[in-house]
Amino acid sequence: MSATTEERTTAELMPGVQIPLIGLGTWPMMGENAAAAVSQAITNGYRHIDTAENYANETAVGEGIRRSGIERRQLFLATKFNTQWHSRSRVREAFDNSTRRLGVDYLDLFLVHWPNPAQGQFVEACEGLQQLMEDGCIRAWGVSNFKPAHLQRVQAAGIPVPLNQIQVDPEHGQPEQLAYHREHGILTAAYSPLGRNGGFLSHPAITGPATDLGKTPAQIVLRWHIQHGRAAIPKSANKQRQRENLDVFNFALTQPQITAINALETGTPPRLDSDTYFH
Ligand code: A2P
Repeated sequence: MSATTEERTTAELMPGVQIPLIGLGTWPMMGENAAAAVSQAITNGYRHIDTAENYANETAVGEGIRRSGIERRQLFLATKFNTQWHSRSRVREAFDNSTRRLGVDYLDLFLVHWPNPAQGQFVEACEGLQQLMEDGCIRAWGVSNFKPAHLQRVQAAGIPVPLNQIQVDPEHGQPEQLAYHREHGILTAAYSPLGRNGGFLSHPAITGPATDLGKTPAQIVLRWHIQHGRAAIPKSANKQRQRENLDVFNFALTQPQITAINALETGTPPRLDSDTYFH
C-alpha cells in the first residue's frame, strides 16, 4: 500500500451512511468506567461507539459522549434492543427508551439484538426498524446474532438486511455464515473480534506478521478483519489498547499471511446459540 494513499476507514452501510470500520465495544463496562472509556476513546479518535439496551450502560455511554464534547453528527452511535420489543409498534418504544437513556435524538444504527425464533417476531422487529428509518429516527438498521435461517425469513418478507453483528475471531470464523453474508451483500460487524483475549494472539500466524510489520498481535487480528471486509468493535478501557486498536489502517497483510490466520479456524460455533439464547 502506498504511503501517500489514505486508506478508507469506513464502509458504506446504506446509501449515504458510512460506518467507521473500527468501533468501541462497550460490554461489560458500566457506570463511570463506561463513561470514562467512551469519552477517552472519542478523544483518541474513535467515531463509532457500540452499546445495547441489555448492557445497562446506555446512560453512561451518553455521559461519555457528552463529556468528550464531540458534535453529535461527527459520531456513529449504534445500540440494540431486546426481544420484548419485537413488534412494529414496540420497536418505536425501544427507540424512545434508548435515545432517552443515551441523551440523543437519533441513532446511526439500531439492531435487533437476538432473533428469539421461539417467539417468532423478529421479522416484525425488522419491519419496525424500517418504519423508524422512514420516520427519520435512525440512519441505518441491522440485526445481531442472526443465523442464515433467520436472515432468510427476513429476506423472504422482501426486506434486505444491511448488517449482521456476530461473534467472529480467527478461531471462530463461522465460514458458512460469512459466505451467506457475502452472497447476500450483508455487512459483517465482528464482536469479540480479539476472541476475549484469545490464546491465538500468541500463535506464530499472528506474532510472525506482528514482528515483520512492527505491529501488536491485536493489530494484526483487527487488520485481518478489515481485509476480510468486516467492521470490528473491540472493547477496551485501556488508553494504549484503545489507540492501537484504532491504528490498523495504512498497512496490509499479504495473502499468505491472511491464509495462515484463516487456518486457525477451529469450526467451534459461537459462544451463545441464537436459536435458544436471547434477552
Ligand atoms: P482490556 O479491556 O483490558 O483492554 P471483547 O471480547 O468483549 O471484545 O473483549 C476484548 C478483550 O480483549 C478484553 O479483555 C480486552 O482487555 C482485550 N483487549 C482489547 N484490546 C486489546 C489489545 N489491543 N491487546 C490485547 N488485548 C486487548
